[in-house]
Amino acid sequence: MPTQTAYLGLGSNEGDRAGHIQQALQRLAAAPGVQVVRTSSLRESTFVGQGPPQPTFLNGVVELRTSLLPIALLDLCKALEAAAGRTLPAPRHHPRPLDLDVLFVGHERVDTRDLVLPHPRWHLRQFVTEPLRELGVDVATMPRALAAAVIESPAAFSARTTQWLAGGCTIGLVPTMGSLHAGHGSLLTMARQECDRVVATIFVNPLQFGPNEDFAAYPRDLAADLQLCREAGADAVFAPTVAQMYDPLFCSHVAVGSAAEGMEGAVRPGHFAGVATVVARLFALARPQRAYFGEKDAQQLAVIRRMTKDLGFPLQIVGCPIVREADGLAMSSRNVYLGAADRQASTVLVRALRSARDVFTRGERDRDRLLARARSVLATEPRALVEYVELRAEGELAPLPSGPVLQGRMLVAAKFVDGVRPVRLLDNLSLVEGS
Ligand code: PAJ
Repeated sequence: MPTQTAYLGLGSNEGDRAGHIQQALQRLAAAPGVQVVRTSSLRESTFVGQGPPQPTFLNGVVELRTSLLPIALLDLCKALEAAAGRTLPAPRHHPRPLDLDVLFVGHERVDTRDLVLPHPRWHLRQFVTEPLRELGVDVATMPRALAAAVIESPAAFSARTTQWLAGGCTIGLVPTMGSLHAGHGSLLTMARQECDRVVATIFVNPLQFGPNEDFAAYPRDLAADLQLCREAGADAVFAPTVAQMYDPLFCSHVAVGSAAEGMEGAVRPGHFAGVATVVARLFALARPQRAYFGEKDAQQLAVIRRMTKDLGFPLQIVGCPIVREADGLAMSSRNVYLGAADRQASTVLVRALRSARDVFTRGERDRDRLLARARSVLATEPRALVEYVELRAEGELAPLPSGPVLQGRMLVAAKFVDGVRPVRLLDNLSLVEGS
């Protein structure tokens, strides 16, 4: 069997630390297919990770020659950790008698749920780089995990997600139109917490823009977007061109029924068919277990939930709370186009919603009086050209009859026309009994 050079990180911060590491080295040396070549000295390193403070670690690196496949080497490491008394699956952020990290196996790249090679954070850890240098390794030339790259072709995107699925990873999908801000960032953060791999998509989708809308003028900044995606921990960014996404003969659409009626559906005919079509296409390409959407676009969220159920996509739709500026304005890519006076006036949307929620909290339950309250606040700001204010049932956003409302969501849209170009702003707020 051909052999290759592998490096393991050694660590212990519980019990007889040096003893645990020595025993692991002896067991490694006795394992079939493994030859221990050299071991660095062991050094103390203070714990820097998350969670409660922990005892100091003893760390080092061992160089091996091995004929084992990377996954077999990982299994061996887990067996040695268990033999040292580490309970598996190990609770995170707890002291451990033995921690063995597979850092490199030759120059192999592996990207599965259980193992990523080279180790994604080896170069950031002094307790790894120093022992490697001591062993004479030129750390500058050692392979590093690749930063999330932009994938342009649907075939390459699908190939990447297929590879992850084959490696047992769960995939979180965050569809966007780019020009990213902290609202999009919150979706990525949520996905990062819940999924093994996170994909952001950036695509200004022409199908969801009407003929007189701002498709051409929609703000675009791929370089800044890529940076935000990387900082938020995305593993890949899919950013196709229109021609790559829709071939010249493209002619199939997802039609959406009652969920797309009223509100945005009334102001922007055809909009939700365009949204549903591109989202269905993204689901088919990425095959995520979870997809993340903002409550900021509450009707869009309801349409996508409905479509996912109706068409049987096997995934969970995760709704994420609205991220706001300090003064309450809901973050939106289009906010950059507001003129200064309109920007100031724009907070009237959230003020109107909060005012309605305040009277609801104080006991007002009548649908029309709640709406009247929001309208009266909106009326104080002539710059806000109000398109609709509605109170709908939570969840599917079905229309509510007049009379008492136990719970609902109030939604508002208004246009501001004095900036660089006219901007439509949307906002909404949940009214729940006891809120
Ligand atoms: P876009 O407007 O870029 O928004 C992408 C996602 O970010 C949506 O799910 C949206 O609701 C969410 N989002 C936007 N602003 C937010 C905020 N302030 N707080 C929390 N979430 C926020 O919505 C679209 O793109 C497109 O229609 C898309 C779904 C990508 C289909 O083309």
